[in-house]
Amino acid sequence: MPSDLNRAAVERLAAIPRTPLVTLPTPLDAAARLGDALGLDLFIKRDDLTGLGLGGNKLRKLEFILAEALAAGADTLMTTGGAQSNHARLTAAVAARAGLSCELFLKGEPTDARTGNLLLDTLFGADIRFCGVVGYDEIDAQMAARAQELAKAGRKAVAIPLGGATGIGTLGYVVAFRELRDQVAAVRGDRQMTVVVAGGTGSTAAGLILGAALWAPTTRFLVVSASWKSDILTAEIRRCAADSAALLGLKEPSLDAVQVTDAFVGPGYAQPSEAGIAAVLTTARTEGVLLDTTYTGKAMSGLVAINASGIIEAGTPAVFLHTGGAPEIFTRDAAAFGG
Ligand SMILES: Cc1ncc(COP(=O)(O)O)c(C=O)c1O
Repeated sequence: MPSDLNRAAVERLAAIPRTPLVTLPTPLDAAARLGDALGLDLFIKRDDLTGLGLGGNKLRKLEFILAEALAAGADTLMTTGGAQSNHARLTAAVAARAGLSCELFLKGEPTDARTGNLLLDTLFGADIRFCGVVGYDEIDAQMAARAQELAKAGRKAVAIPLGGATGIGTLGYVVAFRELRDQVAAVRGDRQMTVVVAGGTGSTAAGLILGAALWAPTTRFLVVSASWKSDILTAEIRRCAADSAALLGLKEPSLDAVQVTDAFVGPGYAQPSEAGIAAVLTTARTEGVLLDTTYTGKAMSGLVAINASGIIEAGTPAVFLHTGGAPEIFTRDAAAFGG
């Protein structure tokens, strides 16, 4: 039975402004061939198919972030990320759709190769600048300075932090968890499930974990880092979940049923790993589903390896959250995949 606190939180959530951007619900696909290969009752939650701008997880966060920005009178969205940032690409698409300007402050040295997400950023009309190999604190300062400059000209820019990893953005995955829980319950009943997700900033995982605290507390999570060490990622998951919980009048959710691993990052962020490439190929060839090499391929490689050690209880459903990212593979040649 939901507690009064949870009921009040669900009412608060429904009252928080949200600009519809996502084609809902995203499909929950039974992944029978890949599941058979892994000995799992496996589903793929297709958040790569959220719709706008070639889709991906960031769109669910941007529904809340955009509503807040519009209420603040924004005429410009700014954000940051790596050169192949999916979040930057989707911010550019959302800005185009909302009739706002978009300025992207990307980490790294300038490149002439406008492929993958950089191509799409350009098509969506974003202004792209490369900030060099500096920390995100430095880039945040550059965005703040630019916002001040725009303010002097009577403009209003909203700077969205890396990955949309704010309390309000994280709410997108609280809502997503309820959608997922309903879909799994419709096909498998109320059995305990395990959700596997890639971790960048950790906000997607945080939203799901908070959603599970509200609607399905027996849910287990495997969060596979694409970049940060486990302790840093765990701390960020905790921060996002706490900030989001505070907006709903809830206390920070427990992470007892959450396993965070950094064992599948491979050579580094955005650098393909051998196991990740293998997972991209296996998923493409068993399910016709495209993963990327930065996030979802590594997350799938984590599921394959960790499942082999038997953490997922036999007969309970496993859900791989496909967070998108496929535009990145178009920066590569078939040779990178052994073709
Ligand atoms: C395709 C993809 N998957 C997963 C993630 C990780 O999401 P989060 O930053 O919310 O952990 C990102 C972005 O960081 C992404 O672009």
